[in-house]
Amino acid sequence: MRAPALAPIVPPPGVMLLVPIQSLETLIEKIDLRGRRVFVRADLNVPLKDGRITDDSRIRASLPTLERLRDAGARILLASHLGRPKGQRVPELSLEPVATALAGRLDCPVHFVGDCIGDEVEAAAARLADGGILLLENLRFHAGETANDPDFARALARLADTYVNDAFGTAHRAHASTAGMVPFIDHVAAGLLMQKELDALGAALHPERPFVCFLGGAKVSDKLGVLEALIERAETIGVGGAMAYTFLLARGESVGRSLVEPERLDDAKRMLARADERDCRLMLPSDHVVCDRLENPTAIRTVETIPEDMMGVDIGPETAERYAEAALAGRTILWNGPMGIFEIDAFSKGTERLARAVAASKGRSIVGGGDSLAAVNKVGVARDIDHLSTGGGASLEFVQGLTLPGIAALDRPE
Ligand code: 3PG
Repeated sequence: MRAPALAPIVPPPGVMLLVPIQSLETLIEKIDLRGRRVFVRADLNVPLKDGRITDDSRIRASLPTLERLRDAGARILLASHLGRPKGQRVPELSLEPVATALAGRLDCPVHFVGDCIGDEVEAAAARLADGGILLLENLRFHAGETANDPDFARALARLADTYVNDAFGTAHRAHASTAGMVPFIDHVAAGLLMQKELDALGAALHPERPFVCFLGGAKVSDKLGVLEALIERAETIGVGGAMAYTFLLARGESVGRSLVEPERLDDAKRMLARADERDCRLMLPSDHVVCDRLENPTAIRTVETIPEDMMGVDIGPETAERYAEAALAGRTILWNGPMGIFEIDAFSKGTERLARAVAASKGRSIVGGGDSLAAVNKVGVARDIDHLSTGGGASLEFVQGLTLPGIAALDRPE
């Protein structure tokens, strides 16, 4: 039976595709993968606490590609990074617990090997049966991974002749396993998760209007690029989190002892002016939850003007309602970053209100970034979001139109 036709993969706007990126289905139609070694680069960079996985979303998101390859009889060499071990072997950042979690989810054995290149890996790969999976140890235990060292890239490429990149969350990194090894491999394709992410985030590049965005988090500097790009494209942008205080200060409002980035004040002014010029409604908080200190606060209040001796820690209820109304009116809604210090319960209400509104909106909703995902999970509305992106940084770079090296590498004739 022929595989169902899939929508063409949408390239990021910065990437002029020479040829369409090959999908996994096309690869499977063209090549008999039975008994063939396939190197799968996934993003299994999951949060861990005391050796336990606290959120397995990225593992679950990787299952469709692995299941499809297993059905096709491929011998899968699965690779990922975990954390930032900086070329050192850090036992707490071993991928071994991920092998156990994957085996449970897939209901089949997932073998594990304590390195990602070399004789030990070769020997373990040689023992794989058709449809078998071997998870390799953390790629970043080798400095060559993040340095995109050609020798390391060749050593990875020697393990297989077919390569599938399903690591959307790492597509913004030009590393050996995401980009460097690709030229040394015979056949390459995008995995099902990669394809799903590109298709879904493509909606933010060609949005149905009104296009309503919410950006939060601590720093303006982290979101500067995406904010600049979205001002050119969106009808409404709601700003929350500590980055909002830099904008309020740029508008001459008092922010007390709130976190601000003085070196970003000029950028904030420039963006406020540009939003005005473009008629983009750049919304800032009009009320705030404030406290005297983060640890054991003795005073928590909701205010319109932040007192000199207090700091803002969440958007206030009136702002949350304004943002919720805007979310409900959007036809395409993009949200990345919390509205307050979400991990502290007393300062999480603004983020939670926004999560509910984004989920309730009839528009197409796209949510990315760890805290925003945690918020939709916490309030139990994940099922009502159209697309939960597994990429934080990658999704932001994609929507601002940057070239993602992991995607550009797949752009070659097959
Ligand atoms: C992420 O969690 O955003 C990706 O796995 C990339 O991780 P990195 O920021 O350490 O490269």
